[in-house]
Amino acid sequence: MTDSILEVRDIHTFIGQFHILEGVSVSVPVGSITVLLGRNGAGKTTTLRSIMGLTPPARGQILFDGKNIAGKHPHAIAQLGIGYVPEHRAIFRELTVHENLRIAERKRGDLARKADFIFELFPDLKRLIDLPGGNLSGGQQQMLAVARALVPDNRLLLIDEPSEGLAPVIIEQLMAAISRLAESSSVLLVEQNFRVASRLAQQYVIIEEGQSPAAGKIDALVQDAALVQRYLGVA
Ligand SMILES: Nc1ncnc2c1ncn2[C@@H]1O[C@H](COP(=O)(O)OP(=O)(O)O)[C@@H](O)[C@H]1O
Ligand SMILES: [Mg+2]
Repeated sequence: MTDSILEVRDIHTFIGQFHILEGVSVSVPVGSITVLLGRNGAGKTTTLRSIMGLTPPARGQILFDGKNIAGKHPHAIAQLGIGYVPEHRAIFRELTVHENLRIAERKRGDLARKADFIFELFPDLKRLIDLPGGNLSGGQQQMLAVARALVPDNRLLLIDEPSEGLAPVIIEQLMAAISRLAESSSVLLVEQNFRVASRLAQQYVIIEEGQSPAAGKIDALVQDAALVQRYLGVA
C-alpha cells in the first residue's frame, strides 16, 4: 500500500520453541501515530522486536516503504531508517547525555544536523548535556532514550512503553514531544495507558495472545466501551 510506511502482514514469531506471535498484522499510515494496545504478555514488545529483526518472524511479511524487510539483520533494518526505543530506557548510564547522543549517530554529522530539533523538543537535555545518563531522573532518561532515536534520519520510530513508571506531568511533556516528532516521522507506539494513548494516536491495533484481533481509528475505539473492556480490561 502506498500510504502506509509500514505493513506487517500476518507474522509468526517463535522465541525458542514458543510460538509467541501467531498472526499479527499492523499497518502504520505515513505521518501519523499508531498505538499497539493490549494486556501484559500479549505480544506488543515481540511485535516491535520482530519488526526490528531482533526476533525475526518465521512467517509473514514486513513491508517498510513497500519492500519486505523480514529476515534482514537488525543493523540493516535500522539503516533503512527505522529507530527503536526499547522498554526500560536503554541509555548508557556511564556516558554523558552528549555522548549518548553522539553514539546514536548513523553517519558523521547527524547530531549536529539534528541538535536544534532535539533540544527544542527536550530543553532539559540541553541543560544536562554534560551529566552522566545515570544521574538523570526517570523522565529525563526516557527523553534521552527518545532523543537518541531522533539523531539519525529515521522515517519510522518504534517506541515501547515510554510512559512506564513516570509521573503524570512528565508523561504530558513526553507525549507532547512524541506528538511533535510525528510531524516529521511516522510512529508505532506501545502504550499501556489507554487515556494517554487515545489522545496521542490516530490508529490503534489490539494485540491479544499473539494475534491482532482488532484495529482501526482510535476515535472509533474510544466510543466502543465494550471493545475497550474486552481487550484492555478498562472502562
Ligand atoms: N525471551 C523469552 N522467552 C520466552 N518467552 C518470552 C520471551 N520474551 C517474551 N516471551 C513471552 O512472549 C509473550 C509476549 O511477550 P511480550 O511481547 O513481551 O508482551 P507485551 O510486550 O505485550 O507485554 C509473553 O507470554 C512472554 O512471556
Ligand atoms: Mg512489552
